[in-house]
Amino acid sequence: MSRSSDEEFAFAGVLRQIADSVAFKPGYYNESYLDRRISARMRRCDIDDHEAYERRLREDPAEREALMAALTINVTGFFRNPEMWEVFRDVLRRRTADQRRVRVWSAPCADGREPYSVAMLACDDPEIDERRVEVLGTDISDEALDAAREGVYHTTRTTDIAAELEPLSTPADWVDRDGDTFSVTDRVQELVAFDRHDMVQDGAREAFDVVLCRNLLIYIDSEHKGAVFDTLEASLSPGSVLVVGMTESVPPDRRDRYEPIDKRRRVFRRQ
Ligand SMILES: C[S@@+](CC[C@H](N)C(=O)[O-])C[C@H]1O[C@@H](n2cnc3c(N)ncnc32)[C@H](O)[C@@H]1O
Repeated sequence: MSRSSDEEFAFAGVLRQIADSVAFKPGYYNESYLDRRISARMRRCDIDDHEAYERRLREDPAEREALMAALTINVTGFFRNPEMWEVFRDVLRRRTADQRRVRVWSAPCADGREPYSVAMLACDDPEIDERRVEVLGTDISDEALDAAREGVYHTTRTTDIAAELEPLSTPADWVDRDGDTFSVTDRVQELVAFDRHDMVQDGAREAFDVVLCRNLLIYIDSEHKGAVFDTLEASLSPGSVLVVGMTESVPPDRRDRYEPIDKRRRVFRRQ
């Protein structure tokens, strides 16, 4: 990114304005990601300098809200990257055969489709004893958590929920469908709890057997990635499993702590 020092200063002003006025911590995320999202909003507002945009943010609550929505990276799906879920299915089969209680953490869980995928898979697969599975979904966004607790999803022009559920053999047993609206059944919801948790700041939760931390690290700047990994490591007991996103990786200085179970699908065993 090549900006003059004046532009640099004006961009920093926008970031300060965000930190002061919306529930989002720009300091966690990498600058190119922030720049892309902010520039997109500026284009929508027909504003081409950061100083003017900063003023707009100060004066216009509707724009603050629109920017907040643009900055919140909440793209997700049921069984996102289905090839990873085949490895995950094996992990869950083995763990539930060997252990009385298998704790899975989906962090971050966005609108809940990832933790519900875990619970549905457990209910759907005859080789997994779902009574042994407990799932926790956490996210920094209260809005995402509200949607997750509701457990209602809609097929839209860009999201085909029925197609997302294809890895299940009997999806109709785990979601109630009414046209384009899909509601996760009580039986599945009972396996999943939700809570707010900031992966940079809030530290470890209890020890988990499997942690899914997918599609957050790509947005986090290198300085805060270490904090996310500290959180993960303190929440993973030895021998437990960590899954990161398909375009993410374990930082080089921590690789010796993770043995790949399936490198391409980013599934690792904590040493
Ligand atoms: C792209 S979604 C990933 C959801 C899911 N893991 C997946 O891969 O489909 C990223 C989520 O990270 C959440 N998030 C952003 N910063 C966070 C932080 N510091 N701690 C916890 N969650 C965070 C966002 O609110 C968003 O819901």
